[in-house]
Amino acid sequence: MISKSTIQKINDEARVEDVVGEFVMLKKRGANLLGLCPFHNEKTPSFNVNPARNIYKCFGCGKAGGPIQFLIDYQQLSYPDALKYLAKKYNIEIEEDEQTDEDKQKEQEKHNLVESIHIANAAAQKFFTDYMLQNENGKIGLAYFKERGFLNHTIEKFQLGFAPEGYDVFTKHALKEGFQLEVLKKAGLTSPKENSTVDFFRNRVMFPIHNMTGKVVGFGGRIMIKDEKAPKYVNTPESEVYLKSKILYGGYFAKNEIRKKDECLLVEGYTDVISLHQAGMENSVSSSGTSLTVDQIRLIKRITPNITMLYDGDAAGIKAALRGTDLILEEGMNVRVVVLPDAEDPDSYVKKVGSEAFLQFIQRNRKDVILFKASLFAAEAKHDPIKKSELIRDIVESIAKIPDNIHRSVYVKECSQLFEIQEQILITEVNKLRRKKANDQKTAENREVVQPKDSKQDQLPDSFHQEQFNQASSNLHILEKDIIRILIEFGSWKTGEEEDAETVAAYVLNDLDGLEMETDRYRMMFDLVKREFLSGNVHEEKFYTANEDEKVTSIAIELLTQPYSLSDNWWQKYKIVLPDKKLMFVKDIQSACIRFKQFKNIAELKKIEAKLKEVTDETELIKLMKLHKLFIEQKKEFAKTVGNVIYRPTT
Ligand code: GTP
Ligand code: MN
Repeated sequence: MISKSTIQKINDEARVEDVVGEFVMLKKRGANLLGLCPFHNEKTPSFNVNPARNIYKCFGCGKAGGPIQFLIDYQQLSYPDALKYLAKKYNIEIEEDEQTDEDKQKEQEKHNLVESIHIANAAAQKFFTDYMLQNENGKIGLAYFKERGFLNHTIEKFQLGFAPEGYDVFTKHALKEGFQLEVLKKAGLTSPKENSTVDFFRNRVMFPIHNMTGKVVGFGGRIMIKDEKAPKYVNTPESEVYLKSKILYGGYFAKNEIRKKDECLLVEGYTDVISLHQAGMENSVSSSGTSLTVDQIRLIKRITPNITMLYDGDAAGIKAALRGTDLILEEGMNVRVVVLPDAEDPDSYVKKVGSEAFLQFIQRNRKDVILFKASLFAAEAKHDPIKKSELIRDIVESIAKIPDNIHRSVYVKECSQLFEIQEQILITEVNKLRRKKANDQKTAENREVVQPKDSKQDQLPDSFHQEQFNQASSNLHILEKDIIRILIEFGSWKTGEEEDAETVAAYVLNDLDGLEMETDRYRMMFDLVKREFLSGNVHEEKFYTANEDEKVTSIAIELLTQPYSLSDNWWQKYKIVLPDKKLMFVKDIQSACIRFKQFKNIAELKKIEAKLKEVTDETELIKLMKLHKLFIEQKKEFAKTVGNVIYRPTT
C-alpha cells in the first residue's frame, strides 16, 4: 500500500496539463487548454484541461478527472500503477504503509498474486530465451527462427525463446528458483496432470505476449514441424493478467510508431507482426488468433483513428476477418483493407518482395472497407437478386454504423453507383436504421435516470401541498447539487471579513444541522463533508477533486465543471456585482440553504398530513397536530423570508 503522504505528494505535484499533454495535443484557450477528446471520436475539440483546478473534462462525452484518473482511463493503469507512474515522472519517492487489518491483507494478497504472476512470466520468458540461446537442445528453436528470416535483433526485441521438449523441465527449474506451484499454475505455465504437474508449453518456439506497458502476460507457443494431430499454436489460458480480448500482440512495441504514422497496420498472426516490424513497419499489431474485439479496437483508437487491415488472399479468411470491421466503423474509425496476393500472408509476402515493394503494394491496393465489401461480393450477387438484396442490406447496416454524416453520404453515393440502385432508397434505409438505434438508446437512457427518492408520488396521499411539493421535488436535485458545490468550492472560505468569521462549511453545516440530502450521491458527499468537519477538517476543493475515493472525485469534478443552476443565477451575480462580492456570496449561500430547508419543510408536512389521516390514537393525534402547526408556521416564515433566516428544526 502506497502511504497517504506519498499520495498527497503526488496529488500536489502532478500537473494535469503535463500528464494529459503527453498523450493529447493541447492548445491554449484562455486560462484553459483545449484538445480533441481521446475518449470519444470528435472533429471539433471539446476536451478541456483546467490547470488551475488540475482537472480535465470533455464536454462532449463527459469524461472527467485529474492526472491520476486520466492515466487510469487512458492508459488503463490500475490506481496504484497510476500513482507509481506519476511518482516516477515527478521524482517522488514512494513510501509504503505497514499492513494492519485483514482487509488490507487480502487486498495485498491479491495484489501479490498479480505481481507474482508477472514475475513468473518474466522469469519464464527469460528461461525460454536462455534455453534457446545457451542450451544445446534449445538451438533447434533458434534455428527455426533464423530459418524464418528473423534477425538477431528482432529475436531479442520480441524476446523469443524455446520451451524444452521434456515433461516438466521448466516447472522443475522454476520450483528450484523458489516459485510457488500455485503461482505457476495461475500464470498458465504449469498444468496439473494426474498425480503430477507438466509444463504447459513443451517443444515449441515461444512468442511472449506483452501488455501495453511491456510486461509479459502470456505466451504463444508454435510447433516447429507440421503435425496434423497437434495444434499449430497453443496460447496461455486466460489468467489474472492475461485477458485475450484486451491484448494486442505487438502493441507495446508499436504504440509510438502508430502515433507517429497516425496509422495502425492490423495483421493476423505473431510472425506477421514480427516480420513487418523487422521490415520497418513498426506500426503493426495483431489480435493474435482471436477475431478483433471492441477492447482491442479501443486500444488502437486511443492512438490513431486509422486502421489498415492486411488479409491473406484466400476468400474464407477475408469473409471471417470482415466480421470485425463493423465494430471498427461503429467506433468512428477509418478502416481500410488490403488483400494480399493469393496464398501470401504479410510475413511471407514482405519476405518475398522486400519492404519497399510491400509498402507500395499497400498504398496501391488499400480500399475503404465498405467499398471493399461491396466490390468483393458484387460479382457474386450480380445475377442473383436475393443475394444482391442481402448484400445491400448488409452494407447499409455497415454504413448506418458510421457516426459521421459526411462519411455516410459519400458511401451512399458510391454504393448507389456500384449497385445501380437509387441513392434515395439507400438514404432512406440508412436513416431508418439510425433512427431505430437512436430510439433504442433513448429508452435505455431513460431507464437509467435516477428518480428522486420522494417522487413515488402516486403512493403519497393528495394534499394541498402537492403542487408545491412537486415543484420543490424537481428542484431538489438542483438545490442539493448547488449546496454540495458550495461546500466543495467555497467550504474553506470565510463568511465575513472579521478575523474569526466562520467558514462557509461551518455555516452551511450548522444551518442544515439535522437535515439529510435526498439524492444518494449528494448525501454521500454531504456526509463526507460533515464527517471531515466533525474531525476538525475543512478542506479546499482539491481534497475532493483528487480524492482517494473515485466516486467523490468524479462527483466533485462534475459539479465544478457545470454552470451554476440556482434559479436566480447567483454565480453570475457574484461575478458581476464586484463591490458587493462578499455580501452577495454569503447571501446566495444563505438562500440556497433556506430553499433546501423549505423543501424539507414541505416534505415533512406531507408526511405529517399522511399520518394525520390514519392516526387513531388520541395522544398521537394531538402530538401530530402540534407538529403540523409548527411546520405550517415555519412554512409561512420561509415564504416571507428573503434573507437571513436562521432555522433549526425542532424535531
Ligand atoms: P505459417 O504462415 O504457416 O508459417 O504459420 P504462422 O506461424 O505464420 O501462423 P498462421 O499464419 O498459420 O496463423 C496466423 C495466426 O493464427 C497465428 O499467429 C496464431 O495467432 C493463429 N493460429 C494459427 N494456428 C493456430 C492454432 O492452431 N491455434 C491457435 N490458438 N491459434 C492459431
Ligand atoms: Mn504465416
